[in-house]
Amino acid sequence: MKDLLRLKTSLKEEIENLLNEQIKLEAHSSSIYLAMASWCDDQGYDFSSGFFEKQADEERHHMLKIFRYVNDRGGKAISPEIVDIPKDFESFRSVFELALEQEMDVTNSLNNIADKCMMAKDYVTFQFLQWFFEEQIEEEYVARRILELFDVIGEEGTGSWEIDKHVPKIAYQAE
Ligand SMILES: [Fe+2]
Ligand SMILES: [Fe+2]
Repeated sequence: MKDLLRLKTSLKEEIENLLNEQIKLEAHSSSIYLAMASWCDDQGYDFSSGFFEKQADEERHHMLKIFRYVNDRGGKAISPEIVDIPKDFESFRSVFELALEQEMDVTNSLNNIADKCMMAKDYVTFQFLQWFFEEQIEEEYVARRILELFDVIGEEGTGSWEIDKHVPKIAYQAE
């Protein structure tokens, strides 16, 4: 059945598998951001908690976008199993360091898929990925700018409180 169906889609199995891996990565990002939201809330960083909740929502949206694409192209999207989500984090700053690392991992993973799409001559998926690349510019920028707050403001005294207050104000403007 699967082989028969495969004849009816131009989505190659190799690309479908990579997209399913990406679905998992986005879902994993979403869960980690939710864990960060809870940790921040617990530590009294309410604005950062709200920020991570919003990020978690966005990652779920990314996951669904790929999920639908795979199914729409005649593939079979797999509902991801998410494991190994931490409950605790080292420090306020480390949460944002981890967030930036995570975003860079996602960009690298998307780059790898784009690479494979070129090799497989799958320009349809290659084109589909462009939206995600635009998104990564924004996400990496915001994470980097927030980390700069730690250097500029510093965490001493009421510093952490001040940093927390600035977190939701960081926005990316392409123009
Ligand atoms: Fe994402
Ligand atoms: Fe992201």
